[in-house]
Amino acid sequence: MDDVSPSHDDLLSAAGLQAERLPRHVAIIMDGNGRWAARRGLERAAGHQAGAAVVESVTKAAVELGIEWLTLYAFSTENWRRPQGEVTALIALLDDYLDQQLATMDRYGVRLRAIGRLDHLPEGTRNRLHQAATATRDQQRMTLSLALSYGGRDEIVDAARALAAAVAAGTLRPEDIDHQRFAAHLYAPDAPDVDLLIRTAGEQRLSNFLMWQTHYAEYVSSPPYWPDFTREHLLDALRTYQGRERRFGSLTPAASME
Ligand code: FPP
Repeated sequence: MDDVSPSHDDLLSAAGLQAERLPRHVAIIMDGNGRWAARRGLERAAGHQAGAAVVESVTKAAVELGIEWLTLYAFSTENWRRPQGEVTALIALLDDYLDQQLATMDRYGVRLRAIGRLDHLPEGTRNRLHQAATATRDQQRMTLSLALSYGGRDEIVDAARALAAAVAAGTLRPEDIDHQRFAAHLYAPDAPDVDLLIRTAGEQRLSNFLMWQTHYAEYVSSPPYWPDFTREHLLDALRTYQGRERRFGSLTPAASME
């Protein structure tokens, strides 16, 4: 992000937020697309389509507020078990989103990434992701990470496999494996731990999302279904976050564990 300008400070204080206490990394479980559609007598795919539009507006809001990292749970490993038609619709939406949003991301200064078992995605989607990541790799205002074909346990298993392979090859001693070395094998090793985890639709489950990175995250359950989630709901979640005291297990407030 550019230096915090007065207008940025004004924007935050008008929203009742303190710039120095913004979460660095916000992660969102975008829940409720299906229920949003059902309420309107629509197909589930229509809910996902409405949800995709919200991805754009929330990304823009997060950039303007000065959030450095935003990770969105767009497709879990468990989502592969949904009916084929819904899976196809979700992948098509993602492809459209990548085709349409590249220019916008560049304009907002967003670096796009994807985490997950990306090799399970169709080739066309993988190519688009690669192209978007390459085109935006020098952007510095915010990193938008899409969790796709993502599972928190898979991520931990994949890291354990990489470490085990290094031990087997004789390049790593088991006693040298610590938190830092383990985290270096996660899908996005440079991403900071999650500070704030938001789940929409009023739900309160982690659902196999960022299990390692959320160890001291603040959880906020936001009532609206994802397609109804607005900038105001994001601000509400940020105010709730700033109203909490983070002690990371100690007795005094602390800035972080890092
Ligand atoms: C959960 O709602 C949401 C998903 C499984 C997918 C999230 C996808 C999007 C928001 C749109 C596409 C994403 C991008 C990045 C373009 P649900 O279907 O589980 O809702 P329900 O619990 O009400 O059934």
